Amino acid sequence: MIIYLIGYMAAGKTTYGKQVANRLKMKFIDTDEFIEHKFSMSVNELFKDMGERNFRELERSALEEVSENDGVVIATGGGLPCHCNNMDFIKKHGTSIYLKASPALLASRLETVKHSRPLLKDKSNEELRASVTEMLEKREPFYERADIIIDAEGTKVPDIIMLAFRPYMSEQRN
Ligand code: S3P
Repeated sequence: MIIYLIGYMAAGKTTYGKQVANRLKMKFIDTDEFIEHKFSMSVNELFKDMGERNFRELERSALEEVSENDGVVIATGGGLPCHCNNMDFIKKHGTSIYLKASPALLASRLETVKHSRPLLKDKSNEELRASVTEMLEKREPFYERADIIIDAEGTKVPDIIMLAFRPYMSEQRN
């Protein structure tokens, strides 16, 4: 079984993904960390050196590689589901969960961590809010193809994910 956590930057994919993997006794992989480890470079450096287009190709290969695992929770980079027909791949290989949050919350979380996000790092906080709103509008049609959509602003997100997964877990046992 593969669980893909998708959603915008700072939606909590990595934080909640680790907690869910722990509770389900599954492995956890974050595609950004996987790529950074593989190339010994940060996502910022990769974007700078090769540009976004090539980074998206790397992400696609990383997605294929990490999806060879079974029993894994995969947190994808925020842009991954929106490029290279990756949402088709994700839907074919596992169960996807969209962690949905408002642009206002995402932008406020990103104010302090934007330096590690190449698409946002040079923006003022005002520009950041406008970009998040605009990008999210374009990305939502991809994210909303997820099998399960969860309000990432609610408390106890991992508990909700566990509940949502009960039917899938019993299906696996049958
Ligand atoms: C990106 C999201 C980042 C990272 C890169 C591009 C995006 O991952 O892959 O900076 O286009 O949304 P996180 O969602 O883990 O921040």
